[in-house]
Amino acid sequence: MTLTVNVSFKEIQELTDKYILGTYNRYPVAFRYGVGETLFDTNNKSYIDFQCGISVTNLGHGEADIIEMLRTQSDRLFHTSNLYYSEEQAKLAETIVMNSFPSKVFFCNSGTEANEAAFKLMRKSATDRGIVSPVILALSSSFHGRSSAAMSMTGNNSIREGFGDLLPDVHFVKENDEDSLIAAFDQYGDRLAGIIMEPIIGEGGIIPLTQEFVAMARKLTTETNSLLIFDEIQTGMGRTGKMFCFEHFGFRPDAFTLAKALGSGFPIGALVVADDYAKVLSKGVHGSTFGGNHLACAIAFETFRVILSRDYLDHTVNVSHYAMERLKSMQKSNSIIKEIRGIGLHIGVELNQVSRPIAEACLRNGLVINATANNVLRVMPPINISQEKMEEGLTILENTLKEFK
Ligand SMILES: Cc1ncc(COP(=O)(O)O)c(C=O)c1O
Repeated sequence: MTLTVNVSFKEIQELTDKYILGTYNRYPVAFRYGVGETLFDTNNKSYIDFQCGISVTNLGHGEADIIEMLRTQSDRLFHTSNLYYSEEQAKLAETIVMNSFPSKVFFCNSGTEANEAAFKLMRKSATDRGIVSPVILALSSSFHGRSSAAMSMTGNNSIREGFGDLLPDVHFVKENDEDSLIAAFDQYGDRLAGIIMEPIIGEGGIIPLTQEFVAMARKLTTETNSLLIFDEIQTGMGRTGKMFCFEHFGFRPDAFTLAKALGSGFPIGALVVADDYAKVLSKGVHGSTFGGNHLACAIAFETFRVILSRDYLDHTVNVSHYAMERLKSMQKSNSIIKEIRGIGLHIGVELNQVSRPIAEACLRNGLVINATANNVLRVMPPINISQEKMEEGLTILENTLKEFK
């Protein structure tokens, strides 16, 4: 039995249809190699990657230092257990804390699991305070994952439908609507465990939360001793030009979740909990077999080191500025673009029509781009993309949009 790298796309497609559950609406391509911001498919056709595996490969493909760390650590040790201490885990946690605020970290394997831990943190901290039926607030257009708890905090109905009753006492607030937020705090005040929000709603259409809305959430959670939690799974790790998106607001949450780009493509997630709440998830209350194993933590540590040592955050801001201006000028000459929004290289291009056929056409033209929320294209290249490659990708997008004008 061998795993070759010369199976044709047709064969890959047939094997997939035959053996893999059809839970994904796949684009008709299989990638075989990646170099920086460029992907190559099974026919060696090249594509600019504006998708980054949905905000995962923020450093592009084949980043030499990440590969070197992967090799070194896999020679040394993959996995032991959270029954023992781990240098890689301890050093990664220190790095996360040094780059955020005084806190402690729980490691897991995905975004969903990080949010599952956040859900448990909110409920446990409320029951510790004597609240019998704690209420969690989330936002109407949110996406937090596919486990029962993460789905329960996900506003998007298409994700929730068909699974019977989800977990009780989660209520939704319209994003960027302070009245809706105040009304929810009035209604549930003494039962509130906390509120979870993506600082930029991702799957829901790249909707940045306003400073006013988030500041109001901070004020109300502080007044009610409930937690403000940011889901930084898509926005973290430099995506918005800061290591974590909450830094743009000028105040901190009580906890935040990470995954995706934390491991540069190697699965790892994290819940970061401010010291005030660090005793809530105590011994035996939560755990994970794989969570934060030696290999995952070494790669995540290296991901931080690469971002910080190479000035990639400033670079992200500069390339973002260029991309935003370029997209705005595209908008002037093509009425198909309704709105451009986002922070850093987390950019949404809202169209006046369904975005999936346009993403498919971009793919044919050599650009990998993601369609989300029905009519939004998500521009999410590696944060270290050069301006030249950014321009190359934007030109493909511009020319493709003309086909749909
Ligand atoms: C904001 C956000 N939270 C949570 C998740 C779930 O992460 P995962 O797919 O790693 O479980 C995602 C995935 O797209 C996400 O975008």
